[in-house]
Amino acid sequence: MGTPAMKSIPTIAVLAGDGIGPEIVAEALKVLRALRGPGFDFEARTALVGGAAYQQQGHPLPEATLDLARTADAVLFGAVGDPKHDPLPPPLRPEQAILGLRRELGLFAALKRVTVPAELAALSPLRHDRAAGIDLMVVRELAGDVYTGRPRGERVSPDGAFAGEREGYDTMRYAQGEVRRIAQVAFRLARQRSGRVCNVDKANVLATSRLWREVVVDVARDHPEVSLDHLYADNAAMQLIMKPTSFDVILTGNLFGDILSDVAAVLTGSIALPATALLGDGPRGMYEAGHGTALDIAGRDVANPLACIRAAALMLRHSLQRPDLAGRVETAIDAVLKAGIRTADLAGGGPPVGTRAMGDAVVSALQG
Ligand code: IPM
Ligand code: MG
Repeated sequence: MGTPAMKSIPTIAVLAGDGIGPEIVAEALKVLRALRGPGFDFEARTALVGGAAYQQQGHPLPEATLDLARTADAVLFGAVGDPKHDPLPPPLRPEQAILGLRRELGLFAALKRVTVPAELAALSPLRHDRAAGIDLMVVRELAGDVYTGRPRGERVSPDGAFAGEREGYDTMRYAQGEVRRIAQVAFRLARQRSGRVCNVDKANVLATSRLWREVVVDVARDHPEVSLDHLYADNAAMQLIMKPTSFDVILTGNLFGDILSDVAAVLTGSIALPATALLGDGPRGMYEAGHGTALDIAGRDVANPLACIRAAALMLRHSLQRPDLAGRVETAIDAVLKAGIRTADLAGGGPPVGTRAMGDAVVSALQG
């Protein structure tokens, strides 16, 4: 027990999960450990999550894991999911762990920053002139929308051409306050960036989007120095490919954000480069690479750990109040890429390096 003035070292809940999760998380921890010194220390506590947790404890999000996540200062999350669990009832599938953590930790904002420096534009699947200079942030609402709307389920179709058949249904919904709080996140971020918010919805079709847009326009009045545009989701997907450098902050709901986050991420050249910060009201957040479990390459020292290492940087910035260390890690990642060091998912450079060698390269760049 320290005196009240003495802040104890932060605790990180490490939930590595399935597939390549444990390998990439190990590299992120390696980088965090390399930052240890007189002014920085942390305690990492691990717990099971996803398919790994189901197999050993019968539930993808055991109570002990949730308790750890709730009491830690931050959660470092690997990846969960395995098609072998597809036959399980939905509440026991690995993905439920993700949704459960978001709900229980009150995480309502997913921030994914996507940057393509000119020197790394050759990695992008887009032409150099389209990709060079991309610097955008996707602000995805994470708590509402069809992900959590009720009612949902399966029933016998009551009417229409397919009456009498089985039908599945979900409910798209957003309350005003829910839209307001995520819009405020987006506008505040835009003020620290280039001052532009692009709201993405489907207000030409959906009642949910029409209310969403009204609230966004209202929040914009509190931020006169930030400009606001609107795009329909289909057009936004196209513009992300055609003119990605035109975006600053993209503000959108849970379902459109799920799709557009992946489109934006891969503009860097690999979904395993950018990372995601999942945030709520307080300083605690969850940090993840935000890609899948890549079971085909799991355990082979092939996976790219950079997004997970970048997630650790986001954790340093948003939850551990160490933007200085976050910046050092981000600079080290860029230096490694600029030096031509590549895992197998990335184009160009010399012969690919493995997961562990990539982690080592970031550590050397940090110390160099
Ligand atoms: C993501 C994932 C999740 C989502 C799934 C696995 C529940 O795709 O984090 O983007 O849809 O949010
Ligand atoms: Mg997704």
